[in-house]
Amino acid sequence: MNLIAQYQELIGNLLDGAPFKSHQPTTLYAPCDYILGIGGKRLRPVLTLLGTHLFGGDESLAIQPALAIEYFHNFTLMHDDIMDEAPLRRGKPTVHLKYDTNTAILSGDALLIQSYAQFNALPAQQFKDIVQLFTKTAAEICEGQQLDMNFETQEKVHFEQYIEMIRLKTSVLIGAALEIGAIIAEANEVDRKNLYAFGVNLGIAFQLKDDYLDVFGQQDFGKIHAGDIIENKKTILYIQALEVAEGENLKELMFWYGTKTDNVDKVYAVEKIFKNLKVDETVMDLINAYTEKGLAHLDLIQIPEEKKSILRDFAISLIDRQI
Ligand code: IPE
Ligand code: IPE
Ligand code: MG
Ligand code: MG
Ligand code: MG
Repeated sequence: MNLIAQYQELIGNLLDGAPFKSHQPTTLYAPCDYILGIGGKRLRPVLTLLGTHLFGGDESLAIQPALAIEYFHNFTLMHDDIMDEAPLRRGKPTVHLKYDTNTAILSGDALLIQSYAQFNALPAQQFKDIVQLFTKTAAEICEGQQLDMNFETQEKVHFEQYIEMIRLKTSVLIGAALEIGAIIAEANEVDRKNLYAFGVNLGIAFQLKDDYLDVFGQQDFGKIHAGDIIENKKTILYIQALEVAEGENLKELMFWYGTKTDNVDKVYAVEKIFKNLKVDETVMDLINAYTEKGLAHLDLIQIPEEKKSILRDFAISLIDRQI
């Protein structure tokens, strides 16, 4: 089994084993085990373990911090699904629908707090550095999520504003997942920062692909098809469409994004406009450009080539993903 598969199995077993089964009250913690147990790619904890491996550290010391990142990610998803009114997550009912909204709020909070508890066993200096990075990242994610919601009703969103929003809501956590791994392996500051920059650029490509899959993904994507169109999300597809839309396409796009409805006519109409304008192709080009930008930072890191290639291949597999 290759290294990534081993890490995925290790983390998967821990998350599938209902880590909060002995916590009380179960009404608070069962939803945490539910969301952790319904799968997902678990890419962030794998990145933390890889971050430690790259610099010759002991991965066993990175397991709890890796879980912290995945707990935190799942907390953001519980709240994100309330905010986005999403019915499906990983092909299963979202927490606020399976239980209720109050449960999704409080179980999300509990998962956030449990994520911090995973750092308790770290040596003092690492604890300080990691909690500092994690806290900064957590604040940035809130900021990004707020911008994402602001954009729903903001008339014009510029490309640069959109990229900054996704850097905050998604990419910094991917950068932090890697850098936390590097801190545990006591990597030097320059290598740490290049690894973070690699993760942030990869994270931007990752969120662009998430926006792309919302519309152009397959049935088994695990989320409701075109949920972003229904919610008037200013995704990269919409931003790129507005750059080139004229005449009827422009008029129709503006019309549908001025109405909040789950009428399928809206989804069909907007998808047709996206296809007419070939935004699927421009977005794939952007995804490749940000991936390249990330890989350029990876190249600068002072580690053996065979270790870099593990991360390079994993990055490319994430960008090529279909879910
Ligand atoms: C979903 O993240 C939220 C985004 C930042 C796009 P993932 O695509 O990593 O979701 P899971 O954990 O694999 O389900
Ligand atoms: C979510 O972005 C980012 C965070 C949860 C912080 P999205 O709203 O695009 O994620 P999905 O598509 O619901 O997974
Ligand atoms: Mg969402
Ligand atoms: Mg969202
Ligand atoms: Mg999305």
